Order: sequence, then C-alpha cells, then structure tokens
Amino acid sequence: MNDMPRKPLIAGNWKMNGSVAMAEALVDAIVEAGPFAAADVLVMPPFPYIDRLRSRVSSAGLLIGGQDLSPHESGAYTGEVSGAMLVDVGAGYVLVGHSERRQYHGESDDVVAAKFEAAAAAGLKPVLCVGESREQREAGQTEAVVSAQVDAVLSRCGIAAFGDAVVAYEPVWAIGTGLVATPEQAQQVHAFIRARLARHDATIAGRIQILYGGSMKPQNASDLLACEDIDGGLIGGASLKADEFVAIIMASIMTSGTASAKQSDAAPG
Ligand code: PGA
Repeated sequence: MNDMPRKPLIAGNWKMNGSVAMAEALVDAIVEAGPFAAADVLVMPPFPYIDRLRSRVSSAGLLIGGQDLSPHESGAYTGEVSGAMLVDVGAGYVLVGHSERRQYHGESDDVVAAKFEAAAAAGLKPVLCVGESREQREAGQTEAVVSAQVDAVLSRCGIAAFGDAVVAYEPVWAIGTGLVATPEQAQQVHAFIRARLARHDATIAGRIQILYGGSMKPQNASDLLACEDIDGGLIGGASLKADEFVAIIMASIMTSGTASAKQSDAAPG
C-alpha cells in the first residue's frame, strides 16, 4: 500500500539528432516555458551534448540523462560510454534497452539486464524500456514479451533495484510511426507491469513511474496521461520541438492533478 501520488515524468529521447546550437536552443526554450514544479522533466541528448547542457538544465531544475551505457565499468571497449562517465558529466538517468538498441545493436534481455545493473551501480536511474513488436501483439504475445523483459532485470538485479528506476512501455509498432496505442491498450500493459512488480514488492510497484512511449504528441498526450497507471511519457519526435514537448509537460501536470487514482495500491497480479 502506498498513498503517495506519483509525480509525472516527461522524458525527451532526442536519439541521434541535433547540434550544439540546436541542443542549447531547445533546452533554453524548455527552460523559458518553466519552471514545472509539478512534473519531472528529463532531456536525453546525444552523449557529446550532455556536459555542454548540464549547467543550463541543473539551474532550471531539469533532469538530464544518456540514451545508453556500457555494461562494463571501464577498459578496452572502443566506442563505449560507462555509467561513471555519464555521472561525471552530470547525468542522473539513462535509457536501458530502448527498442532501437535491441533491434539495431542486438541487445538481448540479458545484455539489457547487465546494463540496468551497471547503471544502478554507477548511481544512475535506469529507464528500462520494454515493449512488443506488431507481430508479437498480433500473435497475442504482448504480456509474455513484456514479462520476459521485466523478469530478466528482476532476476539479475532484484526488486529493490526498481526502487530507484523507471519503466517505459514502448510498443515497438508505435515508435516513430505515428501509430499510437489507445489509452486502453497502454493502460492494460502498464497495469500488467505494475502488477508484475507488485508480486515482489507492492510498495515499490506502487511508487515506480511507468512511462508510455510511442508517437506521444500534444494531441494524444492528455488521454494517455489520464490513465491510472500511466505516469508520464518517453517522447521521441515531439521532444525535438520545444512547443510540443512543453505542451506534453503541461498535459501531464493537468492530468496528474485530477487522477486521484494514481495514488496507487498496486495489486499483485
Ligand atoms: P517517438 O519515439 O515519440 O518518436 O515515437 C519514442 C521513443 O522511441 O522513445
């Protein structure tokens, strides 16, 4: 049981986009529209821009994170970036297991679990991305896929590690496609994930922020964010446009005020 309301978290995954000038202008525009005391706002720029943006974000109360990290601590891993390096340049969060990493870089559930563990060990808050492909959804495998992805991390890191982590449900078929899960489809999977965690610890399950990702835009954000178990968004395309990203932040603040149901009792499932 936990009657603390979950604060919304709106995270911008910039992917491999931008330049120094664009990154600074985008953060400046978000800062100017704030402050957003009622929401956590996180930007995840490409690695080279994190250090450059750290003073801008920290003075405005925004959060900053990386899009990936190495499962290793240090050493001969050319091209990799460690959790400690991310912390060193001011990051507090890191995406783990984004579907583009799983798909284009062959990251298995085991690799993702190792990255989650490395992030937590470095003092970063991992944002664990899970979600099914279109074929998997059509075959009725959504819950099996998502539970395997969550369970791989649970069995390696334990439920306590989720006490300082975020989960993002991102149906692969909705990422960058303009297709968006309906609020009912998304809520169902979010509730499933929370119940899965609640089997191990209902308090942690009740407190963890579970984000929806996949073509979230100002036009669909309110309906998604109003759902009981949807605590924020992981935004790709719309996070590159300050006005759209800010509109989604505002939608999260408006909906969190009304959703008393978000003061969660997580039922084990
Ligand atoms: P999208 O990306 O908002 O462009 O669909 C979301 C993501 O990949 O995190």
